Amino acid sequence: MMHMKLVFPKGFFWGAASAAYQVEGGIDNTDWAYEARSSKKVPPTDSGPDHFNRYEEDFDIAKSLGHNAHRFSIEWARIEPEEGEFSVDAIRHYKHVIKALKARGLTPFVTLWHFTLPKWLYVQGGAASPEFPIYFARYASHVARELGADVEHWVTMNEPEIFAYNGWFEGTWPPFVRHNIFQTWKVFNNLATAHIEAYKQIKEHDLNAEVGIVKDNMYFHANWNPINKLVALIAQRVWNLHFINKVAQHIDTIGLNYYFHKHFGNNDVHKKSDMGWDLYPDGLYHTLMELKQYGKPVFVSEAGIADHLDMYRGEYIRGLVHATYRAIDDGVPVKGFMYWSLTDNFEWAEGYEKRFGLVAIDYETKERHIRDSAYVYKEICSTNAITIDL
Ligand code: FCB
Repeated sequence: MMHMKLVFPKGFFWGAASAAYQVEGGIDNTDWAYEARSSKKVPPTDSGPDHFNRYEEDFDIAKSLGHNAHRFSIEWARIEPEEGEFSVDAIRHYKHVIKALKARGLTPFVTLWHFTLPKWLYVQGGAASPEFPIYFARYASHVARELGADVEHWVTMNEPEIFAYNGWFEGTWPPFVRHNIFQTWKVFNNLATAHIEAYKQIKEHDLNAEVGIVKDNMYFHANWNPINKLVALIAQRVWNLHFINKVAQHIDTIGLNYYFHKHFGNNDVHKKSDMGWDLYPDGLYHTLMELKQYGKPVFVSEAGIADHLDMYRGEYIRGLVHATYRAIDDGVPVKGFMYWSLTDNFEWAEGYEKRFGLVAIDYETKERHIRDSAYVYKEICSTNAITIDL
């Protein structure tokens, strides 16, 4: 069998992604924590992977796996536990986290807001509140001022459509609003305004900071049928591109989270992850290609698989990385790839059961166990290349 080594551009960022509420443990003043206690409509968190106390151990592992970057989020409810009150301890904690990353040669990619809101803001209407953009910009400004000296790569918010859809249309996430398109739209627009205001604030602290958003794009494709093709095109415009177009003047980078494809008019059966999501790594190529038109640096800010047996993860990662390579080859300026996630974690409405990690967590003992697939990814990260069979 012939092999070919596909080498990535020099300086490519390889790593994993995570989010505060999903890994830190011990956060009890967010909308999610509040709802887990009161309405019980979402699962509770506890100390979970306890990343808040074990981040050095986790970063040691990331380093040992050949990573040179790490995407993580800062918990707004820790930084601003009450309206207008900013915690010195929380800032100190995240300063240590950033220092720990850098000491290991891992470049930090910081997300300011990854789904969870401080409870004080939630009870005031959360993302639907007319004040939301003002609050968000103030928070962004505070964090940029405190942490900016050590951070170059910022993301304001994670997956605006998923947040607006799950919370404000489908009603499965806080605040559980169902089928009120007016509200959904209002929230969506508020998110765009909030991003733009936060972008300006971060730039005021550091004009050279690189500030982007993270989008949850899907690959919409269709069979031969022109109606299906039209539906796929509309879905692409609305779900994938509309938000980017709204904020296009105020982004330096685009982060792409890729998990889904939707093939209209086609019922092909694919292997599935433990989430029941199709394993269709090729969709990453197409969703990256869609972003070429913006002429901005792109990051694969998340892509990954829940696979508790670690049966498919290695091959799936290789498929994703190969798709990324092809997009670069076809002209998309992709600068990095972050696997979701470094460790097992709290998967929102699913709780702790689903296993996305390169590293398994024993939730009883908090022991970390590196899965075999993590070494498949290590080979890629440490050689900055993927070798494929021809
Ligand atoms: C993404 C989220 C992330 C994680 C993965 C599986 O939509 O950004 O927090 O839950 O899905």
